[in-house]
Amino acid sequence: MSTIEGLPREVFPSGKERRDLLAANEEKIVELRKLGEKGFRFKESDKEYLHYGWLDSPLDGTGNGSFLKTFRDVLPSGAGSMRKYIEQTLRERKGDAIGIEFGGIGSRAFEGFTENFFKKSIGVTLVDHDKGVSDFYAYRTKEDSGRNHNIIEGDIFSEDTYAALETELRGQQADFIIERMAKGLEAVPREPYFIGKFISIWYRLLRENGVLFAQVPVALNPLLHPWIDKIRADYSGVLEVASAEGRGDIGGDTASAFRLRKLPGAPKELPLLDPRAVRAISRG
Ligand SMILES: C[S@@+](CC[C@H](N)C(=O)[O-])C[C@H]1O[C@@H](n2cnc3c(N)ncnc32)[C@H](O)[C@@H]1O
Repeated sequence: MSTIEGLPREVFPSGKERRDLLAANEEKIVELRKLGEKGFRFKESDKEYLHYGWLDSPLDGTGNGSFLKTFRDVLPSGAGSMRKYIEQTLRERKGDAIGIEFGGIGSRAFEGFTENFFKKSIGVTLVDHDKGVSDFYAYRTKEDSGRNHNIIEGDIFSEDTYAALETELRGQQADFIIERMAKGLEAVPREPYFIGKFISIWYRLLRENGVLFAQVPVALNPLLHPWIDKIRADYSGVLEVASAEGRGDIGGDTASAFRLRKLPGAPKELPLLDPRAVRAISRG
């Protein structure tokens, strides 16, 4: 790997560097929450900016912000629509399905499914950016409750958030989980064990035959391929995976992405790379 004054530099931080990275990330999340409470808008002299361009994106469509745009390359070939693929995959759960978006309010995403396909859906977001900023909030909340879509405000990296989610799920698992934070990946530490821990939590929340879509920082690319290869080699027939490597560190369709289906006989815990393999890759 690259060297600094002749010393090998690890791809991922360890020891104090790792602790500092995670602490700095927590601070970043505090700042983001403050910004979100203002609707993710901020002013610089006389100009007003929107911190995130995508805040409640549609499931399908040709627009830049659609979830389809991000996950098209991880859908099975020929599947040109997130709705069609997910509804077909979960057809036996029609009317009973449960869905979760991590890192977004999920209102428009779940609106994109056939009415009543999902019995319940949940958006888990740092802040509900619509709250208190427009009359639209009252309208949207009414639409959400008509579809039994609830929003949990919380940090997806905090245990409290998962406690609130458990209360909401009342012991049930989810059939469909999606995370597409796009620029929100700015507050995801580039640290494989940390990211692996949360993907493992999502995997545990996923019901058998369920499907998980996730976007991850491209910094994880050196591990993404070996991980996908391991799952394909060791869990063929019980886990189905597809991945697409991104090109840019943060962004809608520039980050990396994967799809994972939990089939009958799938392991209880998400198989991750052996720590020795992670260390070896990390050393380059
Ligand atoms: C660019 S927006 C994307 C929103 C939505 N997923 C979409 O694609 O339209 C980034 C989102 O990430 C959420 N976010 C960022 N960090 C988060 C965290 N630690 N926990 C929960 N949500 C987070 C923000 O609240 C925001 O909704």
